[in-house]
Amino acid sequence: MMEQLKAKMRAEGSVIDTHVLKVDTFLNHQVDPIFMLSMAEEWKRRLGDEKITKIVTLESSGIAPALILAQLYGVEMIFARKKKSITMDDSIYTADVYSYTKKLSHTITISKSFLTEQDHVLIIDDFLANGEAALGLCDVIEQSGATIAAIGIVIEKSFQPGRQKLLEKNYRVESLARIASLNNGEITFIEEKT
Ligand code: G4P
Repeated sequence: MMEQLKAKMRAEGSVIDTHVLKVDTFLNHQVDPIFMLSMAEEWKRRLGDEKITKIVTLESSGIAPALILAQLYGVEMIFARKKKSITMDDSIYTADVYSYTKKLSHTITISKSFLTEQDHVLIIDDFLANGEAALGLCDVIEQSGATIAAIGIVIEKSFQPGRQKLLEKNYRVESLARIASLNNGEITFIEEKT
């Protein structure tokens, strides 16, 4: 686990309730590009020789870390859209994603022209909670025949079922920080060797 990320979460994060951590200072509103680069380097280090030809994320907060990582790999980054853009024709892959937090469902889309059977995709997202966004991304990517190499997450809330759902489907999950609990207004991390 990234000590630098844990320190930043402790220093700058605010625990909103037992389920939500606000990290607007570096991830969900303001973006710290130097720190994003450290995170991208950590994912790249962990993935080692894994072949990656595309980075895929979901707008909006995944875009910043995904772009920096794409630059490190020298590959393109695609952000799935949450709304069908007026410039998109019918050549799109779609999946429905339900948000337990927002209690609503939306359709995510990726243009068919950006993914092929030859692609090896690294998915990046800011938070992993119930896993619905990540599963939706896996769904749209697999419709193209591309291979999913791994799912890179900045902050995993390990007390919610997302990680387990992804592991059950045999996806590789690389979370930079894993939160065991947000009880009593405190962040408790899962300690692990990386
Ligand atoms: P799921 O995809 O894992 O099932 O998660 P969920 O529906 O619960 O999450 C919906 C939105 O809330 C996502 O952002 C997700 O990143 C964000 N989120 C989930 N838990 C937390 C948390 O503890 N703290 C913060 N700050 N965000 C959380 P989104 O709606 O896609 O927003 P954005 O990417 O446009 O910023």
